[in-house]
Amino acid sequence: MSFAREGAAVCVVDRDIQGARRTCELIADAGGRASAILADVSLEHDVLRMMDEGEHAYGRITCYFNNAGIGTTETNSRKKLLAEIALADWQRMLDVNLTGVFLCLKAQLARLGTQGGAIVNTASIGGLTALQGAAAYVASKHGVIGLTRSAAIEYAHAGIRVNAVCPGHIVTPLIGEVPASDTRVTRVPMGRCGTPEEIADLVTWLCSSQASFVTGATFTADGGRLAGG
Ligand SMILES: NC(=O)c1ccc[n+]([C@@H]2O[C@H](COP(=O)([O-])OP(=O)(O)OC[C@H]3O[C@@H](n4cnc5c(N)ncnc54)[C@H](O)[C@@H]3O)[C@@H](O)[C@H]2O)c1
Repeated sequence: MSFAREGAAVCVVDRDIQGARRTCELIADAGGRASAILADVSLEHDVLRMMDEGEHAYGRITCYFNNAGIGTTETNSRKKLLAEIALADWQRMLDVNLTGVFLCLKAQLARLGTQGGAIVNTASIGGLTALQGAAAYVASKHGVIGLTRSAAIEYAHAGIRVNAVCPGHIVTPLIGEVPASDTRVTRVPMGRCGTPEEIADLVTWLCSSQASFVTGATFTADGGRLAGG
């Protein structure tokens, strides 16, 4: 919605096509333009097809937001110590959260060429610090920050800016509602979880010309959670 409010035509990509279509309807209801594309970002042929479909719909794409990701519940690694994580669950986490970002970046950087553009990857506060019982997730998100920095320095000469956002706890289907007594709230100086809109606005700013000298950076949006160590 935030991109659409700025006048952008948006391709909403998801492995859940119904969810992507719902998002497109919200954008259309608000007067914006959007199309839904079905793709699994952990599969290279899906990523390449998604790029083709996006360009077919709107022509050259100049901004990309690599946000698809999964958490510890989906990979059966929630609250597990590192030594308890099954190899297949570790692999699944990396396939989506890290290889997915790698495959998207690879395709996007090639298509942007030397004409410039902006890419934002979603990491997490778990990309900057360890979180108890989430080793696979934390490793995947630290990897996203490494990929972001690598892409930023390798493609700055082409006018492509690559940044990462590191949300704290945001109320989305990934984590669900969080009670006020939960440590995910009580440890946050602002005393609440964030909203998807607060992340979207940061991403939109990073893609805008107002952020023209910003690349290779990681932005926490966590209500102050990491500031206190
Ligand atoms: N919610 C939080 O508190 C929080 C905090 C930090 C980082 N994040 C990150 O933010 C991003 C978005 O998470 P969210 O909270 O909105 O979760 P969400 O589950 O609401 O959204 C994630 C979306 O990614 C899609 N997806 C998952 N695997 C995919 C795949 N292989 N291919 C294509 N699409 C796929 C899902 O269908 C879903 O629509 C994730 O990268 C997540 O790790 C979330």
